[in-house]
Amino acid sequence: MIRLLVLVSLVAAAGEIIFLSLQGFSPRQGYAPKQPVAFSHKLHSGVMDVPCQYCHTQVSKGRHATVPSGNICMNCHEHVDRPSGADAPSPEIAKVKTAYKAGKSIEWVNVFDLPDHVYFNHQPHVHAGVACETCHGEIKKMDVVKTAVTLNMGWCLDCHRSQPGHINVPVYGEDQQVLRHVQQVNIKEQGEFNQACETTEDCGHSQVCLATDGENKTCQWDSYGLSAHFDQAAPQSCTVCHN
Ligand code: HEC
Ligand code: HEC
Ligand code: HEC
Ligand code: HEC
Ligand code: HEC
Repeated sequence: MIRLLVLVSLVAAAGEIIFLSLQGFSPRQGYAPKQPVAFSHKLHSGVMDVPCQYCHTQVSKGRHATVPSGNICMNCHEHVDRPSGADAPSPEIAKVKTAYKAGKSIEWVNVFDLPDHVYFNHQPHVHAGVACETCHGEIKKMDVVKTAVTLNMGWCLDCHRSQPGHINVPVYGEDQQVLRHVQQVNIKEQGEFNQACETTEDCGHSQVCLATDGENKTCQWDSYGLSAHFDQAAPQSCTVCHN
C-alpha cells in the first residue's frame, strides 16, 4: 500500500497538487463551503455555549465526530422558531423543521476531509486531551466553518513527533491566521504552576491570570493550554496512518 502511495505521489508530482503542498499551500486551507442551512457555531457554541459533544455525539467514542441529526436540533427548535425579538419565524429554522417532519436529513457539506488512504480516529486524540480547536481552529467564533489548518501529513507528524509532555500548538485568530503558539505541558505538572497572580505577566508557561472563582486570581491555562498530556510521543510509523 505504501509503495502504491509513493507511486501515486510521483505521478501526481507532475501536476500541481504536490507542488502546492510542498509550498505549504494546501487547496483545502481556508475552505468554507456554503451550507444548506445557515447554521452558526458562533451563535450556538459561542454565544449560547452549547457543548461541542451535545451535537457531535460520537467524537470521544469513535473514529468520526459525526454531524448532528435533526432530532438534536429539534430538542430546541421544536420551541424556538425565530431569533429572539424577531416578529416572524426564521426561514432557516423552517428548513430544519420541514426536513425533520419529512423524515429527511439535511445534506451538510463536509468541510474537513482526509484522502481515503489516511486513517484518522478522533477517540485517541480526544482522550489524550487534544482540544478540538487545536485541529479545527476557533470554531466558536465562526459563523461558517472554515478550515484553519492544512491537514497535510507534515501537520499530523509535527504533533506526533513532539517531545513527550510538551507540545506547541497554534492559537488561531479571527480570520484563522496563527496568532501565537501555546505550550501545552503535561497535565500532571499543572498543579505547581497554579499560583496566585495580579496580571498575566506574573504567570509563566503561557498561562493567563484569571479569577475563575470570581474572587482570587490564579494562573490558569487558557482553553488551549488546558489539555494535552502526552506521556510519550505519538506513533510515527507509516502504517499507523496508512494501512
Ligand atoms: C488531532 C486533530 C483533531 C482533533 C483534536 C479533533 N478533530 Fe475533528 N477532525 C479531524 C480530522 C483530521 C477530520 C477529518 C477526518 C476524515 O476525513 O476522516 C475531522 C473531522 C471532524 C468532523 C467531520 C465529521 C467527521 O467525524 O469526520 C467533525 C464534526 C469534527 N471533526 C468535530 C470535532 C470535535 C467536536 C472535536 C473535539 C471534541 C474534534 N473534532 C477534535 C481532526 C481532529
Ligand atoms: C440548545 C438549544 C439549541 C439547539 C440544540 C439548536 N439550536 Fe438553533 N437556535 C437556538 C436559539 C435559542 C436560537 C435563536 C437565538 C437568537 O435569539 O438569536 C437559534 C437560532 C438558530 C438559527 C438562526 C435563525 C435565524 O434566522 O437567525 C438557525 C439557522 C439554527 N438555530 C439552526 C439550528 C440547527 C440546524 C440545529 C441543529 C444542528 C440547531 N439550531 C440546534 C437554540 C438551539
Ligand atoms: C447545536 C449543535 C452544534 C454544536 C453545539 C456544535 N456543532 Fe459543530 N456542527 C454542527 C452542524 C450542524 C455542523 C454542519 C454544518 C456546518 O458545517 O456548519 C457542524 C460542523 C462542524 C465541523 C465541520 C464538520 C465537517 O464537515 O468537516 C466541525 C469541525 C465542528 N462542527 C466542530 C465543532 C466544535 C469544535 C464545537 C464546539 C466548540 C461544535 N462543533 C459545536 C452542529 C454543532
Ligand atoms: C495536536 C497533536 C496531534 C495532531 C495534530 C495529530 N495527532 Fe494523531 N495522535 C496524537 C496523540 C497524542 C496520539 C496518541 C494517543 C494515545 O497514545 O492514546 C495520537 C495517535 C494517533 C493515531 C494512533 C491512534 C490509534 O488508533 O491507535 C493515529 C492513527 C493518528 N494519531 C493519526 C493522526 C492523523 C492522520 C493526523 C492528522 C490528520 C493526526 N493524528 C494529528 C496527537 C496528534
Ligand atoms: C500521523 C499520520 C501519518 C503518518 C505517520 C504518515 N502519514 Fe503519510 N499522510 C498522512 C496524511 C494526513 C496524508 C494526506 C496529506 C494530504 O492530503 O495533504 C498523507 C499522505 C501521504 C502520501 C501521499 C502524498 C502526499 O503528500 O499527499 C504518501 C505517499 C505518504 N503519506 C506516505 C507516507 C510514508 C511513506 C510514511 C512513513 C514514513 C507516512 N506517510 C506516515 C498522514 C500520515
